[in-house]
Amino acid sequence: MRLGLIGFGNIALTLLGQLAETLDAPLEHLTVLSLPEMEAETEARLKGDFASVAREAVVVTDARELLAHRPGLVVECAGHAAVVAHVPPVLHAGIDVVIVSIGALSDAALEAELRAAAIAGGSRLILPAGAVGGIDLLAALGAAGGLEVRYRGSKPPLAWSGTPAEQALDLGALSEAVTFFTGTAREAARDFPKNANVAATLALAGAGFEATHVELVADPAAPGNVHEYSVVSPLAKYSMRIENLPSAGNAKTSVSTVYSVLREIRNRIGPVAI
Ligand SMILES: NC(=O)c1ccc[n+]([C@@H]2O[C@H](COP(=O)([O-])OP(=O)(O)OC[C@H]3O[C@@H](n4cnc5c(N)ncnc54)[C@H](O)[C@@H]3O)[C@@H](O)[C@H]2O)c1
Repeated sequence: MRLGLIGFGNIALTLLGQLAETLDAPLEHLTVLSLPEMEAETEARLKGDFASVAREAVVVTDARELLAHRPGLVVECAGHAAVVAHVPPVLHAGIDVVIVSIGALSDAALEAELRAAAIAGGSRLILPAGAVGGIDLLAALGAAGGLEVRYRGSKPPLAWSGTPAEQALDLGALSEAVTFFTGTAREAARDFPKNANVAATLALAGAGFEATHVELVADPAAPGNVHEYSVVSPLAKYSMRIENLPSAGNAKTSVSTVYSVLREIRNRIGPVAI
């Protein structure tokens, strides 16, 4: 496989480590699109720590250069700004893109631009389950309509530092769980953009951004990043609770997200997709 990666942070580094451990043979080619100021450091790490992942690996700093290396699949793991800057031209060029920063799609104009680019290029925007699960069933039930989806995201109080929760609560002093946000998935993404990926994934798979109900909770007893949601549809009802461990490189990112991206790549390479 010729793989393109946008971003070289926690998810990308963990993913490359997993690919090195689990692939039967090295990737044919790897292109990493990094920020210009990170180019030299990215190149050094790629040639050092990750030399065994691909037969050839290069670092580039824009989408035009990325496309020149003819990736068969591109994985975005860099954030909202990188989705805006780099993903439309890749889709336009006919290359499928796995987007990890799914919260970016809460921007309706960006979602429309990405869909149009994929249609024009004959490519697909692939939205992995990320930190959550059960997306297969939610998307299947979504086709029948009539969904009620309620999501509750809980984290230890200090994990909400740097968000508007900090103004509303004394995060360091909480002794019991407090729900500090109630609203739609669209409002959650607007107010908590760095914590919007799961709500956006549920919204896109199921009832949409306006009809997906979100609660965000600071809970001193939370064992990690906890995602709970319930679905009521005319066809089925289910509920889900996922307790995720944070990843070593970024406590805001659940480590299962990386495995979800690994699954997308393995499903492309292996003889069976599941
Ligand atoms: N879908 C999900 O469930 C889910 C879960 C966790 C994280 N995420 C998202 O995944 C993304 C990455 O997470 P992470 O933990 O690896 O973050 P990180 O901060 O560790 O890494 C981000 C990397 O992207 C690079 N980058 C930033 N802007 C760039 C640009 N314009 N072009 C190229 N590179 C750029 C940074 O230099 C850094 O190397 C975040 O947007 C996060 O919100 C999604």
